[in-house]
Amino acid sequence: MIAYHPSSFFQGKRILLGVTGGIAAYKVVSLARYLAEKGALVTVCMTRHALQIVGKAPFEAVTGQRVYVDSFEEGASLAHIVLPRNHDLILVAPATANIIGKMAHGIADDLLSTLLLVEPRKVLLAPAMNVSMWRNPVVQENLRILQERGVRIVPPASGRLACGEEGEGRLPEVEELVEEVFCALHVPRSLAGKRVLVTAGATREWIDPVRFLSNPSTGLMGCALASTCRAWGAEVRLISGALSVRPPSGIELTRVESALELREAVLASFDWCDVLMMSAAVSDFRPASFAPTKIKRGHEPLVLPLVPNPDILGEVGKEKGNKVLVGFCAETDHVLEEARRKLVAKNLDMIVANLVGQKSGFATSTNRVWIVDRKGNEVAFPLLEKVDVAEKIVEHLVSHFLS
Ligand code: CTP
Repeated sequence: MIAYHPSSFFQGKRILLGVTGGIAAYKVVSLARYLAEKGALVTVCMTRHALQIVGKAPFEAVTGQRVYVDSFEEGASLAHIVLPRNHDLILVAPATANIIGKMAHGIADDLLSTLLLVEPRKVLLAPAMNVSMWRNPVVQENLRILQERGVRIVPPASGRLACGEEGEGRLPEVEELVEEVFCALHVPRSLAGKRVLVTAGATREWIDPVRFLSNPSTGLMGCALASTCRAWGAEVRLISGALSVRPPSGIELTRVESALELREAVLASFDWCDVLMMSAAVSDFRPASFAPTKIKRGHEPLVLPLVPNPDILGEVGKEKGNKVLVGFCAETDHVLEEARRKLVAKNLDMIVANLVGQKSGFATSTNRVWIVDRKGNEVAFPLLEKVDVAEKIVEHLVSHFLS
């Protein structure tokens, strides 16, 4: 499972998980388990209807904590006040139309609906229901009321619903919920009000309808950066080439294939952004022409003329203004020399250099990087998970270029 958050982020976090009676309640056991395994203290409060779908026992087993249901059960007399005060976040997943309606109108007729009234600003709702219920204006109106009061909502996913119908209303996948919890809990939020454009993944240059030139980039680094920038409060747009990982949730995504398409997409969003993080692995060359039918196997060597692709970062570097530009360079040798050279040549503020090989670079979850910036800072990091590298890059960006 890929979730884009720093490895130790959930250590010591206190999460109150409200489970209501939607069929997706069973999925939430895996969420509770993931968060608990990552070091969070997870306390579950279920409604009576949720108990019809999944019992207390799986939650007790994965969290190691007592599961609460009723306000009047043994030892729960002040639970409706103590539980919300003692936790950093209250996630309700799945949130039925019923709990949304109750919260919007101040109805407190069981433990969960009562505790939601105590710390509404800590609440994150993940609605899940049938598509017709979801689209019903009364549900939308209740959500609007809650949002206006500062309650955060995770939009449901679209697809096949438990009832067999198609449409919006699915509870997002566990890894997506994890990211929403990460974003909701992240402090500091020093990128609030900033617009960050991130590129990720590999470009593909088609030779004929069945072959292309590309590279082994998975897009993991760029996806982790996009999620991290969002967690720091930024509005994020992600432009991705080929990805072999799931794109992060909650982020506007534009898919491209070739370097020329990537260039077009970057130029279209460049005016919009305050920060560009160019982590896409761009093909420096493309075939001079595309063969519209499959090139057949022959016995002679095939010579493929290639033409250079534009240097996208170099081009926007010339129009930089007061935007912050972050480049990347993957090198097999002379890492720092190359980073210093590209920093100047492309007019960048920061460049993240990484070593290719030894569990670093392409197609691995870890990276060994150096950050070099135009103020003369050069910081070396040990081999880290890419999700942790993303946090280091954003920390450097914020402390040296945005404060
Ligand atoms: N880059 C780009 N357009 C290209 C090639 C690279 O915008 N055509 C960007 C990459 O996304 C990266 C930075 O420039 O942020 C450095 O990429 P890299 O491939 O290391 O540098 P190149 O300029 O292509 O030089 P070389 O491949 O010769 O090392």
